[in-house]
Amino acid sequence: MSKAFLKKGGGEMSTMVNIRTDKLHPEASELKKFLSERLMGQQLAIERIVSSFNLSLSPLKDPQTPIFVGLFLGGTGTGKTYTAELVAEFLSGKKDGMTKILGPDFSQDHLITSLTGSSHSYVGYDDPPILTQDNIDSYVKRHRMMVAYKKNARVRELMNELSKTANILRSKDEKLPEWDEFFEHYKNLDSSLKIQIDIIFNREPIRSVILIDEFEKSSHALWNLLLEISSKGQIAIKGKYAEIVSFKNSFIFLTSNLASDKLASMAKNGQTSIGFGTSKSDKNINWHIAVDKLRKVIPPELFNRIEENTIVFKQPSADELKAIMNLEFKEITDFLWKNQRIFLRASNELLEFIFKKSSDHPEFGGRQARKRIKKYIREKLAGPLNSGDIRRGDVIFADINKKTGMIVFQKDMSKSSIREVDGIEIEEAFFDPDEDEEKVPDIFGSD
Ligand SMILES: Nc1ncnc2c1ncn2[C@@H]1O[C@H](COP(=O)(O)OP(=O)(O)O)[C@@H](O)[C@H]1O
Ligand SMILES: [Mg+2]
Repeated sequence: MSKAFLKKGGGEMSTMVNIRTDKLHPEASELKKFLSERLMGQQLAIERIVSSFNLSLSPLKDPQTPIFVGLFLGGTGTGKTYTAELVAEFLSGKKDGMTKILGPDFSQDHLITSLTGSSHSYVGYDDPPILTQDNIDSYVKRHRMMVAYKKNARVRELMNELSKTANILRSKDEKLPEWDEFFEHYKNLDSSLKIQIDIIFNREPIRSVILIDEFEKSSHALWNLLLEISSKGQIAIKGKYAEIVSFKNSFIFLTSNLASDKLASMAKNGQTSIGFGTSKSDKNINWHIAVDKLRKVIPPELFNRIEENTIVFKQPSADELKAIMNLEFKEITDFLWKNQRIFLRASNELLEFIFKKSSDHPEFGGRQARKRIKKYIREKLAGPLNSGDIRRGDVIFADINKKTGMIVFQKDMSKSSIREVDGIEIEEAFFDPDEDEEKVPDIFGSD
């Protein structure tokens, strides 16, 4: 602050208070929590995504640019694609609720027409291109409609009314269509009804996620498109489906395996941060290796646009790998609980064994934990689940037999018998379909 200002403002100085700059918009704060609980060891990526989202929710948002455009580099299995999947899940309820584009599919300029349409009657002229507004918005819109349909009786009534008029329901007394069925009908509704429904669900901005994996393997045409999207926030679709498509409410994730071999071999030889936490210099070495390669491939004006959000994902430390493994296991327990009211728990010895197996290939990053949980838990459970030896309401304990090294599953008959208490089936006792309760209750008590 200049002296002149200090003098002028004189007396008022004493009433100045510092303003916190770390408070987030509630939605941004929710996203931060969602990502922090699921994505291990990539704080920088979380910080950049959340900070961009927070800005987009403020009056200072740049009206010309997407919410976030970022490039993720680094070794395989470090969570690059997973990060985009998590943001998609946050917005649309599903990991695959996003528009996914593979760079190598667009290795030649002319292939871009399947994204943006073509002005002539080429093959495929009649198919809508991938990047229409309808397409990129469909995931979040579908989710938003589903939540309203399930949770809000008035919305359900209104939609039901509309469905009747649209001849979805044949008679007055017929029960509501299942959600998926409804959505199929909705897509085919005639336009004025569709518009009425759309008005309800377009009040809030519809956010979308676009993922371009291995983007460096695409052609200049795709890079130019990216440049346009990241600088103007919109593109023009050509031909039969001509329209201006806005990406101003989009998160755009680019991933690249550039330099990943080198980063992975450094990880294998212990030259990067695995097992040693993170030192700043490690990150800088990785960043420079990856970015030097990148600069040789993509046009400088595109690099300039994404440089700030170019993040090198680091190899997981031992603790982070363990946390990833626990998350992978929790995904299974949550799924079994939610879908079949099966309680599954594993002994510490078994989890320790799987962790050891997950650590044997540091160059595969967190993916190894996923693979090991698949091999030792998912595949082993498949048999008894298919045969009915493990069924709805069962309480299962997974352990490792220290003598034989075999993985064993035991059914806790005493716990399972609570199914019959007072003649109430366990699923009825715990399951309230309207509540969408996904948390596994702690019926074992804590250790
Ligand atoms: N940092 C991480 N936090 C949590 N899970 C991770 C992480 N990295 C990898 N995983 C797990 O490994 C899987 C593969 O990771 P992915 O993002 O596809 O790797 P890549 O970096 O090669 O794109 C993910 O689906 C996730 O289950
Ligand atoms: Mg990937």
